[in-house]
Amino acid sequence: MYRSHTCGQLRIEDKGTQTKLAGWVQKSRDLGGMTFIDLRDRYGLTQLAFNMEVNKELCAKARGLGREFVVQIEGEVVERESKNKKIPTGEIEINVSAITILNAAKTPPFTIENKTDGGEDIRMKYRYLDLRRNPLQDKIRLRHQVGIQTRSYLNDIGFYEIETPYLIKSTPEGARDFVVPSRMNENEFYALPQSPQTFKQLLMISGFDKYFQIVKCFRDEDLRADRQPEFTQIDCEMSFVDREDVLNTFEGLTKHLFSKIRNVELPIFPRMDYDDAIENYGIDKPDVRFEMTIKNLNDVAQNKGFQVFDSSEFVGGICATGSANYTRKQLDALTEWVKRPQIGAKGLVYVKCNEDGTFKSSVDKFFDQDALKTWAESMNAKPGDLLLVLSGNKDAALKQLGELRLEMGNRLELRDSNVFKPLWVVNFPLVEKVEETGHWHAMHHPFTSPNPEDEHLMETDPGAVRANAYDLVINGVEVGGGSIRIHDKNLQQKMFDLLGFTPEEANDQFGFLMNAFEYGAPPHGGVAFGFDRLCALMGGTDSIRDYIAFPKNNSGRDVMIDAPSLLAAEQLDELKISMLKG
Ligand code: AMO
Repeated sequence: MYRSHTCGQLRIEDKGTQTKLAGWVQKSRDLGGMTFIDLRDRYGLTQLAFNMEVNKELCAKARGLGREFVVQIEGEVVERESKNKKIPTGEIEINVSAITILNAAKTPPFTIENKTDGGEDIRMKYRYLDLRRNPLQDKIRLRHQVGIQTRSYLNDIGFYEIETPYLIKSTPEGARDFVVPSRMNENEFYALPQSPQTFKQLLMISGFDKYFQIVKCFRDEDLRADRQPEFTQIDCEMSFVDREDVLNTFEGLTKHLFSKIRNVELPIFPRMDYDDAIENYGIDKPDVRFEMTIKNLNDVAQNKGFQVFDSSEFVGGICATGSANYTRKQLDALTEWVKRPQIGAKGLVYVKCNEDGTFKSSVDKFFDQDALKTWAESMNAKPGDLLLVLSGNKDAALKQLGELRLEMGNRLELRDSNVFKPLWVVNFPLVEKVEETGHWHAMHHPFTSPNPEDEHLMETDPGAVRANAYDLVINGVEVGGGSIRIHDKNLQQKMFDLLGFTPEEANDQFGFLMNAFEYGAPPHGGVAFGFDRLCALMGGTDSIRDYIAFPKNNSGRDVMIDAPSLLAAEQLDELKISMLKG
């Protein structure tokens, strides 16, 4: 037996118990007569005590232990003289009678404690050491719990977990595919799935009715804090359902997860139209933890002689509560912020609503006090507030105001990571025009059905067709998305036509699905949650990386195993990929 207890288990009630512990040496302190060691495992820390006067030899052995040595000890639980209230085992220590070194360790390249001195790069290279630290252990545990609770909830309401293949043919979800050459089929490639979309639809045709899978997906796209090239979805599909059935089912799952894991009872999820999200928040995934919605100022700000506004399609603003005391320096910094290429505004107009009822703006030359008062009124501003106004092309200005709103939300600390505000965004456009090519592109994916009342517009006015699609948004994060699917061959064909597929191309890529539609396809729909994103959100952080045991860096590399890497000539020969040989 390696251990009788874990390093997080023993308490003052265990005083007098003989114990055996195993773990890693986190730290040792040599105080002359006494040596103390913090022994760590997944469960916590326990202090080991060695008394020079009682056992010189053992004490010397303890002093020889370096950081991260793996040891096993035996000893008696005793009450500590100076107690540490910060840790659960802080009232006791172990009076050690024997140590066995199970494995020595080199000095780690960074300290393995809650706060580490290691930079990002070195911690990624030694990810297995970083994972020993408590903050990461906690995140991986949270992920485990989200997975277990998801399986248990969906199982209880009749879902089957069914695996689908990883070596498939490309599915168009908007990103590039990762491809895998086939040795047995010369010149041919598999694609790794961007999602199991077509397979889950086939499972509905097979009659499985309620499917889910916690599944890896692969997308070769530019990476950000909330994107990894391989990530995990909770992928779900149901038959004989309409939109409300799907939304209610997965609202239930989301509530269950927050309740079990965060002890948070979420309210009913409101539904917001895509158009309203864009008009009021400048984004299709609004963070509704705070108001500060965008107001259209065209009526009050145009045709007053200010050329910049008069020549703009749209003038809009947000009202930052209580920020009229912003200094010149702060306003200049904010102006620079909106002018950064990532945001792209040309400039920023501000209006301070002074406490005495007067106004001070950056456009006083063009707008008198009465004019500014009408701005303030149309934005429901109160004395002490600050109005921030942008203008330009409507789509661009709304997007910029959306970004500015989030930035002000951060600056005013309105985005508390312990508050959760979920909503469903519904009625997305079915397709959007790619400006460069003039082609229509599926906003969600080509299997999403149009709203039945808009279907007749597919040929005449595709941009006006709304999709029977929905996204789950929590705190400005797109946690999941899905739709009611097309299950009729003719409608699917019509959709492929709209997207510019020739009948041959459609048949070549999706013939299997269109054929299946002819053998009794039930009406069906579903959703996929971004599992990593959901975990990060529940854990209160923006980056999904810490919730993935072995993530890739921003260039898509695993720096620990050094992947991707070149292949040996023999392997390339075998795969008949000779053009890559040096
Ligand atoms: P979608 O492409 O919207 O839908 O993906 C569903 C959810 O997966 C998460 N996600 C990601 N997470 C981490 N890294 C990425 N690169 C990444 N890309 C997406 C997001 C997103 O909301 N087959 C459809 C679902 C359906 O229609 O049922 C699909 O994959 O949280």
